[in-house]
Amino acid sequence: MKILMIGSGGREHALIKKLLESPKVEKIYCAPGNGGIACDAENVNISAMDIEGVVNFSKENKIDLVFVAPDDPLAAGMVDALEAEGIRAFGPKKAAAEIEASKVFSKNLMKKYGIPTADYQVFDNSKDALDYVVNNNMAPVVVKADGLALGKGVLICQTVEDAKAAIHSIMDDKKFGESGSRVVIEEFLTGPEVSVLSFTDGKCVKPMVSSKDHKRALDGDKGLNTGGMGTISPNPYYTDEMAEICRKTIFEPTIEAMNKEGRTFKGCLYFGLMLTPKGPKVIEYNARFGDPETQVVLPRLETDLVDICEAVIDGTLGDIDIKWKKGAAACVVMASGGYPESYKKGIEMSGLDEKGGVEGAIVYHAGTKLENGKFYTNGGRVLGVTAVDDTLEGALKKAYEAVEKISFEGAHYRKDIGTCPVIV
Ligand code: AMP
Ligand code: GLY
Repeated sequence: MKILMIGSGGREHALIKKLLESPKVEKIYCAPGNGGIACDAENVNISAMDIEGVVNFSKENKIDLVFVAPDDPLAAGMVDALEAEGIRAFGPKKAAAEIEASKVFSKNLMKKYGIPTADYQVFDNSKDALDYVVNNNMAPVVVKADGLALGKGVLICQTVEDAKAAIHSIMDDKKFGESGSRVVIEEFLTGPEVSVLSFTDGKCVKPMVSSKDHKRALDGDKGLNTGGMGTISPNPYYTDEMAEICRKTIFEPTIEAMNKEGRTFKGCLYFGLMLTPKGPKVIEYNARFGDPETQVVLPRLETDLVDICEAVIDGTLGDIDIKWKKGAAACVVMASGGYPESYKKGIEMSGLDEKGGVEGAIVYHAGTKLENGKFYTNGGRVLGVTAVDDTLEGALKKAYEAVEKISFEGAHYRKDIGTCPVIV
């Protein structure tokens, strides 16, 4: 098979490495890819948002499967466009990707179908939103831009003043552009967060092993929110009992709800959960694999990923038994100094071998480029250094040992990935 991967991050690198384990795969292309991906696949100079370019390339090169990994092209209808040309694609169609692309849509869906989530109100003008938080003295409270905002459109507000400032910046100053023309104002929840990615063909849903993301930039969960500074799998808070509750109250009802809305979801549906004192609730849905969750989940997958993708597309997922490795995985993200705010690019990296790896770990490249045999930084999150072991402690030790071997000017990584506060 010839596969075309869409995207350029650590998630895409992890997907490519797993797909390459399949005996069915002959060649993988990646649009546009990165420096590390170039060592495993052939990068093609097409933007992840260039739907026409992707369709044309797929036709010209007789691609058997296009894997659309990022949120933006899914929300823009890349899968619809490929299918219209008879090209097989993994990922939800535009109408189903709405579950991530519009928070108003997902919140209303959960309310309509009784899926547990934070209480909320939707506003399409700042005056009503401001009156609501002031009159109800709402704090702490969470203000969310409706649309995709590179994962930054969620503001946790400790005071009413903070909430007012958040509403102004999203709705009046349009800090996140048109994605802020509507806001969701929701109840502040507490509890451990769990990421559960799942495969679904619209008939059944098969959750993958759980994971935990560390979203803040600095140790001790301090600093700004980022795309994710590291992950572990499994998530220590997610017991078998909790998994069963989530299956019954969240996973299956969501698949059914999307079918009833005429928006059958096929692909990877990501459940961002919070285990609150009142039970598990949905914080957000993503219509795709998580980044950097994928980097700890996929190394634990035993079943051929190509077979799973085909079953998702064909609606035969129920016939497949998906197997996972016991033990654990850990991923430490090495980021550019200054991320998630401004940072330099083009810094030469050292410690990587000619394939972009190091011994004892799997190095997934995110923001890197390869020029004349040398790797340079090319983004905020640069590498996801991942290891698997029988225990979480073992996986973390291996991952951090590998991180120590790699250096570039300004490199920043969290030293406390995998430590989880005890919940009392
Ligand atoms: P999201 O982009 O929706 O995943 O939100 C980003 C982060 O904000 C989440 O991972 C949570 O840590 C936090 N968050 C979102 N919604 C809530 C909420 N209702 N209560 C508390 N924290 C929240
Ligand atoms: N790591 C969170 C996400 O992929 O949205």
